[in-house]
Amino acid sequence: MVTSKEIRKKYLDYFISKNHALVASDSLLPENDHTVLFTTAGMQQFVPNLMGKPHPKGKRLCSAQKCVRTNDIDEVGDNRHLTYFEMLGNWSLGDYFKKGAIQMSFEFLTKELKIPAEKIWVTVFGGDKDIPLDTESIEIWKKLGIPEERIIPIGPKPGGKKGRGDNFWGPAGSGGGPCGPCTEMYVYIGKEKPKKEQTPATDETDFIEVWNDVLMEFNQDADGKLTKLAAQNVDTGMGLERIVMVLNGNPTIFETDSFSAVITATEKISKKKYPPYSGDIDVKNPITRAMRIIADHSRAATHIIADGAIPSNEGRGYVLRRLIRRAVRYGRTLGINTPFLTKISDAYIQDFKEFYPEIEERKETIFTTIKIEEEKFFETLERGEKILEEILEKNPKVISGEDAFKLFDTYGFPLDITRDIAREKGISVDERKFDQEMEQQKKRSREGKGEFFDRKNADRKIFENLPKTKFIGYEKNEGKSKILAIQEVGEGIVEFALDETPFYAESGGQVADTGLVESDSGIKIEVQDVQKMPNGVFVHIGKIISGESPLEKENKVFLKIDVERREQIRRHHSLAHLLHAALKQVLGKHVEQQGSLVESTRTRFDFSHPKAVTKEEIREIEQIICDWVNSANEVATKEMPLEEAKKAGAEALFSEKYENIVRTIRMGDKSFELCGGTHVRNTADIGAIKIISESSVASGIRRMELVCAKEAQRFLWKLSDMTESIAASLKTPVEQLEERVKIFLQERKDLENEHIAINKEIVRLETDELIPLQKDVNGKKVVCEPIPTGDKKKIGALARELVQRGIDVAVTFTRDGGISVASKGKISAKDILQKITEFAGGSGGGAQNFAQGAGVNLEQFQEIRKRVEEECKM
Ligand code: SER
Repeated sequence: MVTSKEIRKKYLDYFISKNHALVASDSLLPENDHTVLFTTAGMQQFVPNLMGKPHPKGKRLCSAQKCVRTNDIDEVGDNRHLTYFEMLGNWSLGDYFKKGAIQMSFEFLTKELKIPAEKIWVTVFGGDKDIPLDTESIEIWKKLGIPEERIIPIGPKPGGKKGRGDNFWGPAGSGGGPCGPCTEMYVYIGKEKPKKEQTPATDETDFIEVWNDVLMEFNQDADGKLTKLAAQNVDTGMGLERIVMVLNGNPTIFETDSFSAVITATEKISKKKYPPYSGDIDVKNPITRAMRIIADHSRAATHIIADGAIPSNEGRGYVLRRLIRRAVRYGRTLGINTPFLTKISDAYIQDFKEFYPEIEERKETIFTTIKIEEEKFFETLERGEKILEEILEKNPKVISGEDAFKLFDTYGFPLDITRDIAREKGISVDERKFDQEMEQQKKRSREGKGEFFDRKNADRKIFENLPKTKFIGYEKNEGKSKILAIQEVGEGIVEFALDETPFYAESGGQVADTGLVESDSGIKIEVQDVQKMPNGVFVHIGKIISGESPLEKENKVFLKIDVERREQIRRHHSLAHLLHAALKQVLGKHVEQQGSLVESTRTRFDFSHPKAVTKEEIREIEQIICDWVNSANEVATKEMPLEEAKKAGAEALFSEKYENIVRTIRMGDKSFELCGGTHVRNTADIGAIKIISESSVASGIRRMELVCAKEAQRFLWKLSDMTESIAASLKTPVEQLEERVKIFLQERKDLENEHIAINKEIVRLETDELIPLQKDVNGKKVVCEPIPTGDKKKIGALARELVQRGIDVAVTFTRDGGISVASKGKISAKDILQKITEFAGGSGGGAQNFAQGAGVNLEQFQEIRKRVEEECKM
């Protein structure tokens, strides 16, 4: 068996012997490149050099690079996908080109790795409208002895993915950059001779791609235009895990040594064996999937943290969070119920620290980060379980798809756990509806913000030298304009800048306008977001909803914002100003605005105040705002020099940087603030108002949420509907509801007490019956019995009571496979449970004295009893 360490060394030694300088792996978090989240290829650190800047180590370079690719994170667990992997590569910066690259690749594969030449197949660039078929590479391969039928030209597929097809590589990120045709090497691993129609172009199972030589002689700009680079470069990449798999004839990468340490550690902790390869493509075995996911995600998380990321809710941090959470969640499916990931990470570090010393050096940080995130996620799981209990109280027959989705989406509670709990209770989850909700959510985030958030740091070079956008939206809701620059950033998603626009760009806490853009030629774009660049250019982001030919620069367009939405935003923004003034009046002058969010459906306002605002204060604040609204103050905007505005007493935010000339908003003598947002013309336009929540965001900072006009109406309706429906279900007039609920709660308490007393009695009586069934096993008293009626709680109580009354080990079962184990302590209840579930299915956990589980197959009962007794013999 060859190991990844050997192959990595062999590769680097070979290229060093061919005068390549060894360059260390770059960080996974490229500092200056925001077109990518993570380093996804070895070439990324050399982009400036491929573009012409000399590299201090010369023109021939080689490396083993840590890479993370996150597109397929949900696919990990199958036979081939990974997020983290190592890529070996060699580079020529204007030194050798096609001939040198191909010759060395061939020599390395056949002489160093000893892959028989007749197993090697290659693909070359098939040509497109800009670049011809790569005949030169074909000739070089032929001269090396690869016959023509094993050299497959591949070009863009008609109707296939956009761009120049599989045999053209780059640019790496979403902006422009170096790229070029490539020639890829495949190893045929099929048992029989390949059939006639079988080639690397048609078959991904028997042909394994091992190496990619990119013949990098072009730069492609963001519009897809190609220009020749100053030099002809080479960029190659060979996935380390994959070549090791091919060399060993392993069925998947997970059988290679790269994964053995992490998988062994997982086996040890979960006390389950990694199942042997079964050949199924979609990998049904949940243990296989779980162990692979844990293996991959823990490797990735270890490196990502070592390189400086921390879990968060966006960008790199979010990916890291997902990796850790998925690993934890799959750990749970293996029956691991306590934090464990640092142990897996440690096993990995021990195995790889020699080549990547940073993981050893930053070990403490890695462990602490993982531990905190893991513990937090356990809390999420616990909270989710509580909410699930409440859901089940309302409807004990089925968990609706909406509820399961809400648990998942709002509380981060994974579906498979919802499913587990449902199974324990013998009920079902409406997964079809869940999937539908999920699909809709995905659609929403594809169409909506999700995608755009990712693009906040994206390449916006084409907008950099444009003039500041003129905002006409204070007075107008529509207008005509001209497109100054436009780029496609996703399937049917475009970003563009205009010379003037009525669309407000997100700023000062106010969200962007949405609306429509139409061209004379009939193209329609739904604008979903507008972001302001530091140079004052508004980048409109939208989806093409009709029309064929793409919009171009210079196109004249008609613009119209969603007026109704904007009107609601205006109201909520003016409401924020009145709230600010009212807070100062009621709570005191110390109140400072700390942040705000103004949307069409609510105002969120954060401010400094040392304690919770009382109910009376809230009432008073509401009353004051109401009066100000009703006194119909004119809202006047005026531009003036900053100093003058400050002298006149305008409210300004400390943290904000203002221009010399500022815009001020005055609402009668009630409020006077610096603000660039959009407002109502008269306070009376705000309509009804309501503070709907008051909470703490940080020490000394409070948050209020308010609604007005339509939204206030909606809020009231919701409340009154709810009250009426509660009253109806309690068969009480609304006026007597409070009284009725009090009585109801008291009755419930009495019943509960009665219930507890009865249950205690039942447990006592049933224990009386169980005690005589005890067996003597080497001097230990053992009871192992199914219980005809009762739930998890009851069998738990029985097992405990048995032990209280002198039994050493008590195992009790419910009819549907729930199980409880109690022990005097010498023999571990948890271990006994584990023994049972290993053999009779199900899962669970606990401690030395007590453990509980579910899903056990009761048909195995006799055998279970036998094993429990064996366990007690020891
Ligand atoms: N950049 C190319 C790839 O990632 C070759 O290294 O495949």
